[in-house]
Amino acid sequence: MAGDELLASIFKYASIAVAAALGLYATLLWCLTMPTFQSHVVYLHAFQMTWFKDLNVPETFGFLRNQVTPFSIETPDRVQLYAWHILPIELYRKHERSLNAEPTGFVSDITSRLAFQLLRDDPEARLIIHLHGAGGTVGSGYRVPNYRALSAGQPEKIHVLTFDYRGFGRSAGTPCESGLIRDALSVVDWAIKVAGIPPSRILIFGQSMGTAVSIAVSQHFALQSPPVVFAGTVLVAPFIDVATLVSTYRVAGTIPILSPLARFPRLFQYLQRYIKDTWRTKDRIAEYVRTNERNGEKYRLTIIHAEDDYDIPWHHTEMVFWYAVNATTPVGISYDALEQKKLDSKLNLGAAGSVMEWTTDHGVIREEILKTGLHDVVMGYPIVTMAVMRSLEAADPSFTH
Ligand SMILES: *[C@@H]1O[C@H](CO)[C@@H](O)[C@H](O)[C@H]1NC(C)=O
Repeated sequence: MAGDELLASIFKYASIAVAAALGLYATLLWCLTMPTFQSHVVYLHAFQMTWFKDLNVPETFGFLRNQVTPFSIETPDRVQLYAWHILPIELYRKHERSLNAEPTGFVSDITSRLAFQLLRDDPEARLIIHLHGAGGTVGSGYRVPNYRALSAGQPEKIHVLTFDYRGFGRSAGTPCESGLIRDALSVVDWAIKVAGIPPSRILIFGQSMGTAVSIAVSQHFALQSPPVVFAGTVLVAPFIDVATLVSTYRVAGTIPILSPLARFPRLFQYLQRYIKDTWRTKDRIAEYVRTNERNGEKYRLTIIHAEDDYDIPWHHTEMVFWYAVNATTPVGISYDALEQKKLDSKLNLGAAGSVMEWTTDHGVIREEILKTGLHDVVMGYPIVTMAVMRSLEAADPSFTH
């Protein structure tokens, strides 16, 4: 009898626990339909991750004195974006004494600084506009080794410009899709107009959420009349769109939040209507490619993803690549036909992964799948350096001589 009673009470408490968990889950879903809560989940901008450090003291993030110039760029809707201009190491070495002699900290007139003048006055300088992922700031996590990898191929010439989107770090405002795109456009505008760097010497680099902003910006400029195309666009760990992302996303690579719902397509489709910022990279990349093909503009797209990326599964890159390749031909190509072509012509690099390059008369679309590199660690890898150098060389062969 005692055994039965025990069993019964275990049963009772277990069902209370299950009901409570379901209740919490339903509450979470309900919260997710609210725009403010949703934007916190999508952008994670409340998580600065550099709480105990001052971004205006870049030395505490491992930089040399005045290697980084903290300053701000204003958007047309008057948001002050917090930005870092990062000097490549060999250029720094050549000007070490003069750089050391300047005051440190936030700069209100960046044009008065030597670092800025070294960028503006060198006709061979290249500029990487860096669009970071969700959460954190310009100084968080693997972003710092990322900046080093970006300029490692030509450390006398390749500068990096990175910034926090509205609502992130020290930048004012609250994030939203149109706002983030406007932020990135303002930064590109600053690079062209204030720093005087033509688009042919600018490369757009984005990781994770930043890839969605990168392709939106590339597309925006390609659609201008006359069209504006950059030296290259490099995307690390992109995603197809937010709806597909949430159906596969796992917090810290382990806890699936919405993927259980993806098993109920109708419910999932219904909930999709509540997604405010959709970030449709698949459509934007297709339009970007189609526009350049139509205009006969030279373009270069590189998409990089690691197979052990648990935050955004690498299948997203295969799909994004397909959408891009499909847009190169008037009749298109099916996913399976492209997979077959990959089997025939992709470059197999063993433990280093594989590379598939799709070349047209005007453009190159390159997919690089790494075996390892996780979601962010890959940003500091030499594969990033190579992607940058390949793009810059293709845009101007004299750059690597
Ligand atoms: C592929 O391209 C064709 C032709 O442009 C288009 O009709 C089709 O919608 C594209 N497919 C995808 C999945 O984008």
